[in-house]
Amino acid sequence: MALHIVTHPLVQHKLSLMRNKGTGVKEFRELTEETAMLICYEAMRDLPLKTVKLETPQGWSETKIISGKKLAFVPILRAGLGLIEGVTSLIPAAKIGHIGIFCEPGTHDAVKYYSKMPDDIQEREVVVIDAMLATGSSAIAAIQDLKDMGVKNIKFLCILCSPEGKNALEAAHPDVDMFIGALDEKLNEHSYIVPGLGDAGDRIFGTK
Ligand code: URA
Repeated sequence: MALHIVTHPLVQHKLSLMRNKGTGVKEFRELTEETAMLICYEAMRDLPLKTVKLETPQGWSETKIISGKKLAFVPILRAGLGLIEGVTSLIPAAKIGHIGIFCEPGTHDAVKYYSKMPDDIQEREVVVIDAMLATGSSAIAAIQDLKDMGVKNIKFLCILCSPEGKNALEAAHPDVDMFIGALDEKLNEHSYIVPGLGDAGDRIFGTK
């Protein structure tokens, strides 16, 4: 597994604004979308290109376009939804699947309660998306679910990650590359990322 930490100054700046507990819902939501878009830009670096010939105002030219690779984004409900506008602003033609997973309080076992994927999901490169990778159990279960459906090519994208989550995901799915905004210090006793940014879902949707 390759870990890509997107250390671009714009990502670091936006992350600092997101970490600030005084940042309100509207700004937090916008920052989530913008940061997701910047991380996605890096995650798409290996998209294949093909050469096309076209006529510019100055004459004929051979130029590159993306060679029609089929993509799907799969946000993990609920916080992953907050990143979707950002990533689809870069790849508007991508299909979107949804997976709902909650973690049992106490055991942190992942329980799937919802799944709806594009019919041709197994033919697509899939980017699983969540706001935070804390214990890693939701992401591990979501990726396993996609592999069980026959998906071969999977990436994982999130805003913030804990070392515990990174290690767990790496152990469970060593073939999945991760694209993140920052690797934080640790998890606390409630499985929140420290320093983190609090509950991403609550901050995106304003539920607290
Ligand atoms: N989920 C969150 O929203 N925040 C954390 O810190 C950990 C998991």
